[in-house]
Amino acid sequence: KPTLRRDYHPPAWLIDQAELTLKLDRDTTRVHARLFVRRNPDSDASRAPLALAGVGLTTRAVRVNGNPVTHGQRRHEGEEMIIGSVPDQAEVETEVEIAPSANTALEGLYAAGNMLLTQCEPEGFRKITWFPDRPDVMTRFRVRLEGSRSEFPVLLSNGNCIEQGELDGGEHYAVWEDPFPKPSYLFAIAAGRLASISDTFITASGRTVALQIHSEPDSLDRLAHAMGSLKRAMRWDEERFGLEYDLDVYHIVATHDFNMGAMENKSLNIFNARYVLADHETATDADFEAVEAVIAHEYFHNWTGNRVTCRDWFQLTLKEGLTVFRDQEFTSDLHSRPVKRIQDVTDLIARQMPEDAGPMAHPVRPERYVEINNFYTATVYEKGAEVVRMYQTLLGHDGFRRGLDLYFQRHDGQAVTCDDFLAAMGDANGRDLGRFERWYRQVGTPTVRAATRFDADQGELVLSLEQSLPEHPDNADLGPLLIPVAVGFLDADNRPLQPVLVGGDTGPSETVLLVLDREREEYRFRGLQADALPSLLRDFSAPVHLEYDWSLEQLARLAGFDPDAVNRWRAGRRLAERILHEGIKRPAGLPDTVALLASAWRATLSDPALDPALAAELLSLPSEAELAEQCEQVDPEAIHRARTDLATYLADHLTAELNAVFQRLDSDRAWSADAAEIARRRLKNIALHWLSAASDRTWSVQAEAQYRRADNMTDRFAALRALVHGNADEADAALADFAERFADDALVMDKWFAVQATRPDPAVAEVLPKLMEHPAFSLRNPNKVRAVVGGFAMANPVAFHRADGAGYRQVADIIAQLDVINPQVAARLAAAFARWQRYEPGRAERMQGELERLAGGRLSPDVGEIVAAALRPAK
Ligand code: ARG
Ligand code: ZN
Repeated sequence: KPTLRRDYHPPAWLIDQAELTLKLDRDTTRVHARLFVRRNPDSDASRAPLALAGVGLTTRAVRVNGNPVTHGQRRHEGEEMIIGSVPDQAEVETEVEIAPSANTALEGLYAAGNMLLTQCEPEGFRKITWFPDRPDVMTRFRVRLEGSRSEFPVLLSNGNCIEQGELDGGEHYAVWEDPFPKPSYLFAIAAGRLASISDTFITASGRTVALQIHSEPDSLDRLAHAMGSLKRAMRWDEERFGLEYDLDVYHIVATHDFNMGAMENKSLNIFNARYVLADHETATDADFEAVEAVIAHEYFHNWTGNRVTCRDWFQLTLKEGLTVFRDQEFTSDLHSRPVKRIQDVTDLIARQMPEDAGPMAHPVRPERYVEINNFYTATVYEKGAEVVRMYQTLLGHDGFRRGLDLYFQRHDGQAVTCDDFLAAMGDANGRDLGRFERWYRQVGTPTVRAATRFDADQGELVLSLEQSLPEHPDNADLGPLLIPVAVGFLDADNRPLQPVLVGGDTGPSETVLLVLDREREEYRFRGLQADALPSLLRDFSAPVHLEYDWSLEQLARLAGFDPDAVNRWRAGRRLAERILHEGIKRPAGLPDTVALLASAWRATLSDPALDPALAAELLSLPSEAELAEQCEQVDPEAIHRARTDLATYLADHLTAELNAVFQRLDSDRAWSADAAEIARRRLKNIALHWLSAASDRTWSVQAEAQYRRADNMTDRFAALRALVHGNADEADAALADFAERFADDALVMDKWFAVQATRPDPAVAEVLPKLMEHPAFSLRNPNKVRAVVGGFAMANPVAFHRADGAGYRQVADIIAQLDVINPQVAARLAAAFARWQRYEPGRAERMQGELERLAGGRLSPDVGEIVAAALRPAK
């Protein structure tokens, strides 16, 4: 049943050219395909018959070189149609019918609002026509679209429009040709009543590219930020990596009906509207940054993904890890590097590490899958980006660039593997990176355990590092990883020291890069006193758990003074975690050490020299989900109580400081996208957020005033969230006002839904059905499902994990119902049950019961794989 990485074989047949004609109709679209096929000389199956994949197609005709292929001359095996006796070079024709309006899975060709759209990655093309739907078959596509001029005035596909014109009966057509051979997963069409804005970009070598961003007509005035983002991304890729755009046109289409974030189809990106539409009245500053990052991500795929693509889906991280790394670097270069890094590490710890520790744990390059859609994961994407970042850390910026240059020189136009990428990185730098390859095979988060001692005889501080991997069959016999560990030290006055690594090839420096490539290693440093305070894994130099026995006082010092922003933030988090876990174990109250955290926060709040955006990151606590990951056995109520108590303690002890910051940063200046203004809003709203935990409830007056006066969504939504999550008397009125103001705005209503679904209160389990009955909710719309059900199941632990099981029961029912409509989105929700074995017995049993109930019904492969993995006995 599962597909295995080691079973890869090159395709037996290649398709040099495909000519498709789609006669568009919402209910029945006819697809005519002419495929110019030939045997692959490099195949190891020189006699294999031609096999084409197809799912849900109503086949009207199959012809080879013009001759009908009868039912006797073709057979069906799983998703494949196997055609006997095709000449070694031939023209294969098929005619099929598909039903876009009945396609609720949003994969293949589907109706979205008044458009028809495609989503083909990874295996959606087979829902459109018969084809060897695998990424190592690269084809030149010519696509003719025909349809009603009034229903589909705009007809788009990949590449250049080479012809268009009128047809009888109010119909028209357009022919698109993409000169670059590409895998079928990059195929796209978009047709419908689209409005658009246009601009141009002149590439470094002087070519003019026409840029067009399309949306439904009513959101035309929200496309400007996306356009600016696209142009910034195009410029940045030229400057940082010497990569230029390669066609004369670039289209982006925004839709409200999309399973994921966005898709990098060649020259015709299709996007979830939430990553395109933005104006300051409806989108927060964080939304603006997300739009810019996703626009950039999809643009960057043109080289890392499209020009050089993946040989098979096990290699997904080859394009995704690399492209996430590139979009992270883009955001870092344009905005604040330390803030971006802290946010990415936060996300990795919150989303990827639990996955790494759960039943679906897999290497960044998985070894097996049942449903490949389930492997578009935080591990493949975000841990994959960390793996790419480690190359840069090890080879330096220039070395990384040399490696990437060689990668494109060798593989432009090819479908390749992670091993090819590693080889290019190593060869370009004259380095044997053989051991680094283990990062692609290891499962789970590695641990690096650090210890220090002072060798008084030598006057050297000795740092020992020891690495280990979690127990997992795939990790057996793997051997040690190659782990870059950046370290520094502070003196007794918290000033950075400049040690010298004994035997190292660099002079004194504030941060030293150690490369741990054995089980255990000792490093000796000169220029340090016995009391030097270590700052380890600076900039989060590797995706590992770093353990060291810091005292709470030492963590407080690092939290106040580490010049490495990531470690400064991390030390504060560690300090909070230690206090919180003490609190979780007690029946009530917090340990006295809480005062240490309060003084660290006080210092941050009163440091005028600190970048407000960085200060906002430093004033954060681990989420309840993160704390749950660290518990032996999870009691969600105890975690919630401890974290709430800590928030209240901090708010009560720092009311004056928080208020001072809030007042200082509050302003009636009109909204502006200026970086300093974004940082100001961010810190101000963090201050409001923590104030809303105070015992003194006067903050709600400020929040209500901010809600009413705000001229932008950042401030308005921050105030709404504080009122709703803080259970203020003013909350209901604000929610009602918000719903009225934005009733017709799907994206803003997602926020309205999410803020209610995530209110930390067990009673939200009773609110869930009401939210789902709201006229603006639809189980067919993935954004709505994510806002309401995703918010409830993934971001509201006290409600989802309600002791009576009401949260579990409802979410399991929704998964079963949704699985029939949209398996991909249903499977994402099923992950909420993955960690059931870690909960206290009452909850564990209830979660297991729901999983078993799901397993007893009829499930898609998507949900089936997640549920089966969760129920598999722990090794
Ligand atoms: N390649 C897209 C991106 O990362 C994601 C597409 C995911 N699609 C899916 N059906 N899983 O930019
Ligand atoms: Zn991507």
